[in-house]
Amino acid sequence: MNAPGQPAKQGARSLDPHLRRYAARTAGMTASEIRALFAVASRPEVVSLAGGMPHLAALPLESLSAEIGDLIATDGLVALQYGSAHGVPELREQICEVMALEGIHGHPDDVVVTVGSQMGLDMVTRIFCDPGDVVLAEGPSYVGALGSFAAYQAQVVHVGMDADGLVPEALREAIAAVERAGRRIKFLYTIPNFHNPAGVTLAVQRRAEVLEICRAHGILVVEDNPYGLLGFDGQTYPALRSTDPDNVVYLGSFSKTFAAGLRVGWVLAPHAVREKLVLAAESATLCPPTLNQMVVSRYLATHDWKGQIKTYREAYRDRRDAAISALEQHMPVGSTWNKPEGGFYVWVTVPEGVDTKAMLPRAITQRVAYASGTGFYSDGLGSRQLRISYCYPTPERIREGVRRLANVIKDEMELHETFGPTVGRPVSGPQNPSPDTA
Ligand SMILES: Cc1ncc(COP(=O)(O)O)c(C=O)c1O
Repeated sequence: MNAPGQPAKQGARSLDPHLRRYAARTAGMTASEIRALFAVASRPEVVSLAGGMPHLAALPLESLSAEIGDLIATDGLVALQYGSAHGVPELREQICEVMALEGIHGHPDDVVVTVGSQMGLDMVTRIFCDPGDVVLAEGPSYVGALGSFAAYQAQVVHVGMDADGLVPEALREAIAAVERAGRRIKFLYTIPNFHNPAGVTLAVQRRAEVLEICRAHGILVVEDNPYGLLGFDGQTYPALRSTDPDNVVYLGSFSKTFAAGLRVGWVLAPHAVREKLVLAAESATLCPPTLNQMVVSRYLATHDWKGQIKTYREAYRDRRDAAISALEQHMPVGSTWNKPEGGFYVWVTVPEGVDTKAMLPRAITQRVAYASGTGFYSDGLGSRQLRISYCYPTPERIREGVRRLANVIKDEMELHETFGPTVGRPVSGPQNPSPDTA
């Protein structure tokens, strides 16, 4: 794509007459590969292990529908009206009760309700990042966050992880390298619990160290925690925000613990940041949807929401088990994966010579879809990795999907042995992934 202001190529100009008008920041907004394949991947015969759609069939739909009907009948004039950019006060109080489960003592005034935590990510990046600023993020990282960082022309520097999450030593090294290069780091973006896409959790003993390193270098921490209550054994971990309220912006969401389509999330900011966030939210949406906030608030007040989270956890644990046992049964030698203790995702490394991005169209032909690893890095890594989401398909479909996937990988290995490593493998280059959260 030509940079705005530069002459467009003839072909490109005829395709997009607006090309020369776009702002420079739009160069970072590109469709992810999975989006491009979405229409094919969502055909019923394809087992999609690609998206992160929650298992909504576990919700009590009848009682929710009665509750929503009653809400409109009794409170419709409020629920269908504009509200404040800050969010519905009662919901903000309830959000503080939800966060208390992970040790956070937040004040409702410091909670800003957002249209999903994706909007929180967008707002935080908007208020902190100038073009060229550096954001540190785990490698791999959540594709929707990378999309927001790219949209604001922030540069992502990845920090290594192991089975215990972000590696403190790697964080120190990344900071030192960026500082040596004279670049400015704005924040560390981290998903400490049941990481998307890596499936790992930051060890409790590392949490204080990560906070200490960031504090020592004047780096804000953005803690993104949509999966924290979805640990399969019911265990929760102390939020980073719980021990360092002045240096952590916390992002929360009802998407995975209740209903993603309501698009209700929140930011708990240090008090000094709250006002700017409200202004940023106001300029983006005027206010989050009042009806949806009131639905969440009613749900929290009238339903056994902790019991619902337990139901979700049990369903996801069964699906995780199905994915892991199918991987053990079918995957070729040379593949590795982790066993997540919560959340939605398994991160798989395939045998050498197999390129997961090049393989994706062939996998779809074999009626299985996954998210290839390259979308989760902003520096072109990840071509030997892929993410399996086990949250949506039934355990039977997961087993069948993994069986098909393993066969596709075995075919690729055969091709590789016959024709050498370059067959079907595009040259990897930097990626600019855009959100692929579905
Ligand atoms: C790590 C992470 N952050 C944020 C989001 C966005 O969630 P929401 O639906 O609240 O916008 C997702 C969704 O998949 C996610 O995995």
